[in-house]
Amino acid sequence: MDKIKVGIVGAGYIGGVHASVLARDERVRLTAVHDTIPERAQQLSRATGAEVTRTAEELLERVDAVYVTTPNTRHTELAASAARAGRHVFCEKPLATSLDGARAVLAAAGGARGVFQVGHNRRFAPVYARLRRMIREEGAAPHSAHVKMNRGELVSPEWVGDPEVTGGFLYETTIHMFDMLRFLFGEVARLDAVGSAHEYPETDDFSVLLRFESGVHASMCSSADASWLFPFERVEVFCHHRTIVTREMESLTDSSGLEGRHTTHSVHQLSKEEKWGYAQEDRAFIDSIITGAPALVTAEDGYKAVELVDACYGAVRSGEPWLGTRN
Ligand SMILES: NC(=O)c1ccc[n+]([C@@H]2O[C@H](COP(=O)([O-])OP(=O)(O)OC[C@H]3O[C@@H](n4cnc5c(N)ncnc54)[C@H](O)[C@@H]3O)[C@@H](O)[C@H]2O)c1
Repeated sequence: MDKIKVGIVGAGYIGGVHASVLARDERVRLTAVHDTIPERAQQLSRATGAEVTRTAEELLERVDAVYVTTPNTRHTELAASAARAGRHVFCEKPLATSLDGARAVLAAAGGARGVFQVGHNRRFAPVYARLRRMIREEGAAPHSAHVKMNRGELVSPEWVGDPEVTGGFLYETTIHMFDMLRFLFGEVARLDAVGSAHEYPETDDFSVLLRFESGVHASMCSSADASWLFPFERVEVFCHHRTIVTREMESLTDSSGLEGRHTTHSVHQLSKEEKWGYAQEDRAFIDSIITGAPALVTAEDGYKAVELVDACYGAVRSGEPWLGTRN
């Protein structure tokens, strides 16, 4: 079998993570890399043997599949044009930083002949994959949940505080948890949110209330003006006389009955690439290309996550809840 020729557009942090996972996949040949800062592309080229291209268009001519790993507000055009050109596309989250942008990529991916996968890596993280199995397959039957996703600051790296680059704080890391809530509990029927701004020139602190079509309800808080006290990411799921709690992507604790007994499943021995699901999502993308199986995180999933972030900003602005798309 010919190796799948893969190109990377955006040779920064996460481009490097995917490159290092893909370099160990025998089914793949890293062929090309492009970055608007040529030195970054050259650095990744030296590490992987991939050729540097002057433009993204040139890169597309040389590959079967492309990773779009540019900053948030630079995904839409690149991902849509790669899909239209018939390439398999792995687009980092967020799919886009506006509903219009997300619709445009969704349309391009819908008409494309290649696989289109979005980088919501947490779905593949063993802690969250296990939590989903407990809920969807092993009868955990939650009635409610609480999610926390904090960032200590919007200072470092410099671009995290620039909405021109991020699209807004919620599009950065918090969007993972909107996707996670759908992954665990299904479609959202209603969302309300309150937000405030403090040190930074954007809304940086959110309290969100969600009701799902399944009847489950959840609260989420996400602040970018806090501290780096761990855990900054946590999901608590409440069931009949049972609580299941995650701590970062490190461990899951399950407490059943009323005696306070609990068991903790820890994945601390795994590499970060596996703990965070990067290795598994890249493997799944290549699997889909080879077998023709649908992507495990589709453009529609990416769109729905953008829709929830957009709904959250809308609810903060208007003071009115978002009533889902089926109401
Ligand atoms: N799934 C995750 O856990 C995860 C983790 C980190 C980052 N990300 C996402 O990956 C993306 C990149 O984040 P990062 O931390 O690697 O950022 P980064 O700044 O380290 O890298 C981005 C790179 O893209 C380059 N670039 C900018 N515009 C470009 C363009 N138009 N064409 C080609 N290259 C361009 C920059 O020069 C830079 O080298 C972001 O969307 C981010 O949200 C996801």
